[in-house]
Amino acid sequence: MKEKIESIKKEALEKVDKTNNLKELNDLKVEYLGKKGPVSELTSHMKELSVDEKKDFGMLLNDLKQTITEKIDSKKEQFETEELNKKLSEESIDITLPATKVPIGSPNILEHVIEDFEEVFMSMGYDVVDGPELEEDKFNFELLGLPKGHPARDAQDTFYVKGDELLLRSHTSPVQARVMLAKKGLEPVRIICPGKAYRRDDDDATHSHQFTQVEGLIVDKNIKLSDLKGTVTIICKKLFGNDTITRFRPSYYQFTEPSVEVDISCFNCKGKGCNICKNTGWITVAGAGVVHYDVLKGCGYDPNIWSGFAFGFGAERCAMLKYGINDIRTFYNTDLREIKNFDRREVE
Ligand code: DAH
Repeated sequence: MKEKIESIKKEALEKVDKTNNLKELNDLKVEYLGKKGPVSELTSHMKELSVDEKKDFGMLLNDLKQTITEKIDSKKEQFETEELNKKLSEESIDITLPATKVPIGSPNILEHVIEDFEEVFMSMGYDVVDGPELEEDKFNFELLGLPKGHPARDAQDTFYVKGDELLLRSHTSPVQARVMLAKKGLEPVRIICPGKAYRRDDDDATHSHQFTQVEGLIVDKNIKLSDLKGTVTIICKKLFGNDTITRFRPSYYQFTEPSVEVDISCFNCKGKGCNICKNTGWITVAGAGVVHYDVLKGCGYDPNIWSGFAFGFGAERCAMLKYGINDIRTFYNTDLREIKNFDRREVE
């Protein structure tokens, strides 16, 4: 009997070793440990044995069963590990494959130009501030030397929202008044305010009812027109290239005295005359001037102590010139194909 058990064990273990997969292993399990298998068969003979024999035989049978089970289990584990490894190696990700391109948006080119302004001015110590687009008449006009009934108000074709007190700001200059009043005439001011402005213009290639200005204001002691000229000259060189020449023409604004118009030499024809500069060799990019005595006073700064200069750049105009865009409406176009077309930053 003992030999029989040993030979069954030997045979079973050899067969387990030879299995090639889980299915064969399972069949083998049924064959040896199943109801019709040799272990069951041998167990059924137990009742024919004496108590002592039963004990020995039982131990041998248990050992047989356990050895075969352990062998099968360890083989099973081996198959499962192999299968898992195979699966993992098949599923591994090839990180060298090119990725699928996900289309992502990019800032409007106008945004780039505004960022350029911010960067240059911040490097010169200016703060970037914000102001409301829905503005009070007081800030948009009155504190800037344009009382009610002043004829120059007409030039700013304003969108009134509520009566004649609340309006969509027609320029970013009201931020000057707000900042000065907030500082209560006590400390110097050095700010720029890029933002939207609105006028009841008919939209065409060079006009839009909504446009962007970059307002600037500096108030300190001893600020002169020459400081304005120096600052604006540097800004224009940084924005339009080092060989840009700046020209200041006398002009008129109610909130500055003297007032100037800032022209830059045409970067396209270098002053020879082309269609961008309308054959003049010059392009106007900003209005500016020395802050008016009455504006300083009205906004809480003693004009006998403080002085300042201010300017307002047209951001769309600068972007159009810089990137050769000939229609202002392009900036507000929602057709991605066209927008992509003129976002040259990607190409630069
Ligand atoms: N606010 C003026 C406009 O919209 C531009 C301007 C001119 C702003 C002179 C200024 C300035 O700050 O000093 O036409």
